Amino acid sequence: MLVHAINNAAYEFASDVRAGLTKLGQKELSSKYLYDDVGSALFEVISHLPEYGLTRADERLLQSHADEIVQRLDAPVAVAELGSGSGKKTRYILQALSRWQRTFYYPVEISRSALAMCERELSDIDSISIVGFEREYLDGLLEVAAHRQRNQHLFVLFLGSTIGNFDRVAGTEFLREVRSILQPGDSLLLGTDLLKPESQLLKAYNDEVGVTAAFNLNILARINRELDANFDLKQFEHISKINREARSVEMHLQSKRRQTVRVPAADLRVEFEEGETIWTESSHKYLAQEPFEMAKTAGFICQAQWIDEQWPFAENLFIAQ
Ligand code: AVJ
Repeated sequence: MLVHAINNAAYEFASDVRAGLTKLGQKELSSKYLYDDVGSALFEVISHLPEYGLTRADERLLQSHADEIVQRLDAPVAVAELGSGSGKKTRYILQALSRWQRTFYYPVEISRSALAMCERELSDIDSISIVGFEREYLDGLLEVAAHRQRNQHLFVLFLGSTIGNFDRVAGTEFLREVRSILQPGDSLLLGTDLLKPESQLLKAYNDEVGVTAAFNLNILARINRELDANFDLKQFEHISKINREARSVEMHLQSKRRQTVRVPAADLRVEFEEGETIWTESSHKYLAQEPFEMAKTAGFICQAQWIDEQWPFAENLFIAQ
């Protein structure tokens, strides 16, 4: 008898865990499940690690070019952000806009604690109204679009190279879905981490202090907490590896020995071989010209691009056609 299923979200988590861990061949868990309250807080720490320059590069670009970026937009705009996290780097864009207009800001975020942090972090900006949506990206964006005023353009932020969690085909498909919710003249600011030497990438996803390892292992702790599972975290190891063909870094959790794990709320018993892995995340890395191609395929034009030289990363401004 299944006695654990409670609400919709818990049911979906249970069925995704079940599907991912019973898959033939490579077991997998979706990277979106890394971001519960603990995972979001650990990612926040990752963004301060010397090995992981991605978030700081994103922030440097927004800080240096915010005025130039907002001057390219058709005013007035309402800002929607997909996966706001703490919202820290969004400040520069919102401040630049607020010099010209009253700014409506709609963060869309699956982590409630990240959303609360974001609302707190940005509420002091002059002439801003913040309404957060605890939703998946496209559901949240649909809701924002439904509430837009006539004359108002949407400016969507999809920062931090979160797009890189999709493979290339799915990433462009996602952008096409975003486009389908927008109107011509609306815009999207897309952050993309650029390809860099393998040794640098491996260090970025396997830091010395072990924060990334904790971030990755937390997905098992979350399954224990929310689905009553009995993963022994000491029996799994965080690994990061390069997938050259996909131009991505993958995170996996590798079983240190042969073992069986029970996940009662997913009505599941899983066997692991020694050395077998659960694939938990891919972070795709891009060539500078790729965003231009992705934009076109998805119904946008990439109107401008800014690149950080210190940690190769690109901010790309897409205009919906
Ligand atoms: C927030 C999804 C962009 O893929 O680099 C950081 C998450 N994973 N370290 C990334 C992450 C491991 C990050 N994104």
